[in-house]
Amino acid sequence: MPCPPQSDQLVFFVNGRKVKCPLWHLFLDHPLPVRLTGTKYACGRGGCGACTVMVSKNDPVFKKIRHFSVTACLVPICSLYGAAVTTVEGIGSIKTRLHPVQERIAKSHGTQCGFCTPGMVMSMYTLLRNHPQPSEEQLMEALGGKSDTEKVHHPRGQMGTVFLAESSGCQQKGTGKCCLDRGENASSPLGGKNDICTKLFAKEEFQPLDPTQELVFPPELLRMAENPEKRTLTFYGERVTWISPGTLKDLLELKVKHPEAPLILGNTSLGPAMKSEGRFHPILLSPARISELTRVTETSEGLTIGAGCSLAQMKDVLAERISKLPEEKTQTYRALLKHLKSLAGPQIRNMASLGGHIISRHSYSDLNPILAVGSATLNLTSAEGTRQIPLNEYFLAGLASADLKPEEILESVHIPHSRKWEFVSAFRQAQCQQNALPHVNASMRVLFKEGTDSVEHLSIAYGGVGAATVSAHKRWDELMLDEACRLLLDEVSLPGSAPGGRVEFKRTLVVSFLFKFYLEVLQELKKLVKLVSVPDSRRHPDISDRFLSALEDFPVAIPQGVQTYQSVDPHQPPRDPVGRPIMHLSGLKHATGEAIFCDDIPVVDKELFMVLVTSINEKLSKALKLPGVLDVVTAEDVPGTNGAEDDKLLAVDEVLCVGQVICAVVAETDVQAKRAVEMIKITYEDLEPAIFTIQDAVKHNSFLCPEKKLEQGNIEEAFEKVDQIVEEVHVGGQEHFYMETQRVLVIPKTEDKELDIFVSTQDPAHVQKTVSSTLNIPINRITCHVKRVGGGFGGKVGRPAALGAIAAVGAIKTGRPIRLVLDREDDMLITGGRHPLFGKYKVGFMNSGRIKALDIECYINGGCTLDDSELVTEFLILKLENAYKIRNLRFRGRACMTNLPSNTAFRGFGFPQGTLVTESCITAVAAKCGLLPEKIREKNMYKTVDKTIYKQAFSPETLIRCWNECLDKSSFHSRRIQVEEFNKKNYWKKKGISIIPMKFSVGFAATSYHQAAALVHIYTDGSVLVTHGGNELGQGIHTKMLQVASRELKIPMSYMHICETSTATVPNTIATAASIGADVNGRAVQNACQILLKRLEPIIKKNPEGTWEDWIEAAFEQRISLSATGYFRGYKAFMDWDRGEGDPFPYYVYGAACSEVEIDCLTGAHKKIRTDIVMDACCSLNPAIDIGQIEGSFIQGMGLYTTEELKYSPEGVLYSRSPDEYKIPTITDVPEEFNVSLLPSSQTPLTIYSSKGLGESGMFLGSSVFFAIADAVAAVRTERDIAENFIVQSPATPEWVRMACADRFTDMIPRDDPKTFKPWSIPIA
Ligand SMILES: Cc1cc2nc3c(=O)[nH]c(=O)nc-3n(C[C@H](O)[C@H](O)[C@H](O)COP(=O)(O)OP(=O)(O)OC[C@H]3O[C@@H](n4cnc5c(N)ncnc54)[C@H](O)[C@@H]3O)c2cc1C
Ligand code: FES
Repeated sequence: MPCPPQSDQLVFFVNGRKVKCPLWHLFLDHPLPVRLTGTKYACGRGGCGACTVMVSKNDPVFKKIRHFSVTACLVPICSLYGAAVTTVEGIGSIKTRLHPVQERIAKSHGTQCGFCTPGMVMSMYTLLRNHPQPSEEQLMEALGGKSDTEKVHHPRGQMGTVFLAESSGCQQKGTGKCCLDRGENASSPLGGKNDICTKLFAKEEFQPLDPTQELVFPPELLRMAENPEKRTLTFYGERVTWISPGTLKDLLELKVKHPEAPLILGNTSLGPAMKSEGRFHPILLSPARISELTRVTETSEGLTIGAGCSLAQMKDVLAERISKLPEEKTQTYRALLKHLKSLAGPQIRNMASLGGHIISRHSYSDLNPILAVGSATLNLTSAEGTRQIPLNEYFLAGLASADLKPEEILESVHIPHSRKWEFVSAFRQAQCQQNALPHVNASMRVLFKEGTDSVEHLSIAYGGVGAATVSAHKRWDELMLDEACRLLLDEVSLPGSAPGGRVEFKRTLVVSFLFKFYLEVLQELKKLVKLVSVPDSRRHPDISDRFLSALEDFPVAIPQGVQTYQSVDPHQPPRDPVGRPIMHLSGLKHATGEAIFCDDIPVVDKELFMVLVTSINEKLSKALKLPGVLDVVTAEDVPGTNGAEDDKLLAVDEVLCVGQVICAVVAETDVQAKRAVEMIKITYEDLEPAIFTIQDAVKHNSFLCPEKKLEQGNIEEAFEKVDQIVEEVHVGGQEHFYMETQRVLVIPKTEDKELDIFVSTQDPAHVQKTVSSTLNIPINRITCHVKRVGGGFGGKVGRPAALGAIAAVGAIKTGRPIRLVLDREDDMLITGGRHPLFGKYKVGFMNSGRIKALDIECYINGGCTLDDSELVTEFLILKLENAYKIRNLRFRGRACMTNLPSNTAFRGFGFPQGTLVTESCITAVAAKCGLLPEKIREKNMYKTVDKTIYKQAFSPETLIRCWNECLDKSSFHSRRIQVEEFNKKNYWKKKGISIIPMKFSVGFAATSYHQAAALVHIYTDGSVLVTHGGNELGQGIHTKMLQVASRELKIPMSYMHICETSTATVPNTIATAASIGADVNGRAVQNACQILLKRLEPIIKKNPEGTWEDWIEAAFEQRISLSATGYFRGYKAFMDWDRGEGDPFPYYVYGAACSEVEIDCLTGAHKKIRTDIVMDACCSLNPAIDIGQIEGSFIQGMGLYTTEELKYSPEGVLYSRSPDEYKIPTITDVPEEFNVSLLPSSQTPLTIYSSKGLGESGMFLGSSVFFAIADAVAAVRTERDIAENFIVQSPATPEWVRMACADRFTDMIPRDDPKTFKPWSIPIA
């Protein structure tokens, strides 16, 4: 490697220590150069927050040390010159002292898999550094930038709220309705014997926050800031040169010398483009040290803000000015501030600069449209001088004439004050409220002739759809509105094929926003007109209160809630942990970043990095010649079996989908491997026919397996006598979005072809078997290790085996260890997800709502290989009846074969999709009968001991209890009335409420899949090592297993340890899936412990007063084996598909959820007001963990049914491959009030200590939000006299909601004939 020129010294600190950075690796797409395991890499695009760290800098704007959170994955190392970085390791450790934030998040059960916990800790820590007693708003803002599965899937992590200045607690508290009012141990309202607990942790045990204990800003950096270096600093990387001038003059000269070089500030625009679009800039100019760019000045005309100010600084500046200036002057500032609160998350706002934002000219820009209508001016500077250009529609449209010259830079932006009789507003609609790019945004400004309602100037600018200006010298009335709408629709030309799709929705928003603005201004105008008593004021009739609801945005509120559970028997010994809310074993390590995940394993000697190539390549040789690239692994290198005939590990001849793995590049580093992959160009020959949609698969008879069918009664005869509805339901797929992407490290050993494989999987035995057959070596040479997995949700059952096998081929071929870590984009592209579903139902019913016959036909989109599609179809059919007893039933299901990446197992395994069809059918019957859906549900629910469609007997008693308790706890009936009252009073906002019952079957439909084993060793010091076949995915299985062992061996959990799951200690394991991991492995651990205790019994009897250590010592002396294998043969389960009967499931989990929402009929947005869940966990092994599972799966279900939308091109390419395009819920999506109760006094003799597995069931309860939205939409349609029924489509996105709430605006928009254009995306369900 040629030696780069000598760089200047890059001075920065990490965790209080000066970092000496090896300058040869200054590439930008690397996280911080210090190997610290706490900063996680999960998306690489600033979209998830897992890599959040705190940066401290001397702030020249506010003249103080500024602490701010950033996403490390977008931080160029050179940008840290003069900064102090604090990572999670720098604030506390389990080895020394925990920081209060770390302690509280762990002890309040705020972690599950723990992969993103450090990011959350750092967001909170930064908040507390700035505000030791934060307000609710500040807390929500700090956490709003994280769309990570763990935090939102486990929102109860109350670590945030325990720092609040005023903890508000449950909204019902003090009213007598709150569980807390009934006391800690109030008895069950249903009169059960068991006591109820509401406390999952003890706040009083937390150590106080002491700001004096925090790391100080390094004095060396302070000195540097006081005497800033004016010299130009240059840092040479391997491919990139970073130049940081100290003066504006030098910067302008450099710009002349390097006109092509971009200015780099936040890197939030450049960085993602370099990563995903392969853009490369050999020279980067950093203006970070130039004070002119961060100057803020104010004159009587307006504010001038330096282009180098971050968006967060701009937000503070505006907030401060708004508080000081008269309202009439701050119209534009208020609009900017509004959007600055929802634009990205706080980390991005801390990094992104105003200049970078403006100059990037993203079509979705939230600020540029406001600046345009606010008549902002751009102050440009170059070596030749300065000039001003308007930020107007030409600039927005990206016209070359409005461009900066290559040698020019943007120095500052002048934003004029608004005037009296001028109104400015901004609107945006995204997939979810916070941290999502807008589908459409708009900024509108109107200026009236002084003292009148005559429009002098109206300007409107849109983001996401294009610019528009409307000249309307008219009065502010409905006529003007109509005309302006028509003009806008003409001017904003959005073709049917427009990128981003959602064309009709966007057109509707264009006019809906204008209507909102019209009403808003009308309100204000009336106040003003009244004040100056304009003679013609009678022309403005009062806006009826019913219509005023159009004006309010949904406020962001901190979620509150109460969790109740059954307390343990008062006679249970205090040291017995079963049934108690024990903290997750790794909770503290999660919070300190000391929990080791697969990719945290330090680099091993001679390790290579592998990157997958997912297309046909013809330039392998060119890629191979790049520096550091060692090899390309193809199907020809596979020594054994290259996967199955129809599911190859590495493609041979034919590629069945975009995203199929063709080969893999192996290089010395990840960067070199990725660069080589970029070199590989692709040519395809089209497959005929290419099938992507279910409809096409059905047309071409393209199926992966035979139809699955269940039938009871006489469906045809039953249909003859009743009313019928025939309808369709479309349920979209879902991406697993585990925070830790797929990763594996394969280490070949020198002897006997042995391999050690460290892998993030739910099924290590499957990885072991697949590697064995791929390499053609016996299974006993391969050991798979799983320490912990950063989320799986079913996505790490099958896929890790294929990835492990490909990496193993590379390891054998090169003889060196191979690390394979999928980027988020590759992970989303390659690994498939939940099956999209298309369902058709025909339902026959009586006027009373009694359903007599139901025929459901479901098709799932399986993708190009079988994978788990047959099993998913079977489970779907078995579970379709949900909680209902319908005498005449027919369920049919088929898995379609399409040219998409293969879909696979996903939490709930078909149940969440299928049962949405059943519940939609119930809702449709209710609408037809003019009855409420809950009445139809109640009427058709199982009432007595009965048999399911597959003739398995069960008692619905607990199901009915859950339903009744949920009705009661949620005060459903009174709230239904309140919802109706609200809807009568509000035209543009509607509320909806729904309650959904659930009967969820747990386990696999085969006995052999329920077997489990454990290995328990007692060492001579009395310590115990427990190993079992389950994998720690964040669901707390290891914690539960130690609780079991503790009870059985009658010793505290502190004696015990679980190291990892390994195929060497427990062989032939079953995947940790189907909600039964803790059940079956718990039985195995119990068995092993009982064997050991039995062996110890004679010794204990002989010395009853002895200690555990005494007994173990004696046992060793007496040559009693202190190691035992425990085994559980499994629950009996079978299904005979020929006869359509069996006992496929060991048991059911019952539950019910009630949700209430409010929708905005003009934008399609919704707010989740409240959710109450009642779940039957029987005797929970660990209520803290189980409630976390319920909440987490509920939120994940809510995502499935409301925001998570996969978008495919007409050529079958998945567009939605990053957190920008695929929106999982954020904390602001959690219901404002979220209560979870475990049903008291419930028992089951079947399972360990009468507990139930709760991993998946809550997922479906997320549909209560979907049906609440549908309820609100139905209210709109009834009021507007539109057909009651509409095609049910999940997710209920803002687009679906808006278009279902048809009105004069949806009628107004042009509609394209689908035959006349090629759509940007196609629906595949
Ligand atoms: C996760 C994420 C979420 C986001 N969400 C939103 C959102 O909801 N709404 C929204 O509107 N935006 C959003 N953005 C975009 C964000 O606002 C912009 O990326 C950001 O403002 C760019 O600023 P920067 O300092 O990072 O620019 P950089 O990436 O550093 O630079 C961008 C470009 O600007 C040029 N440039 C920068 N400063 C100057 C200057 N002074 N003179 C001349 N040229 C200059 C550079 O040459 C470069 O070409 C999001 C971005 C991310 C990563
Ligand atoms: S990894 Fe940095 S934000 Fe996701």
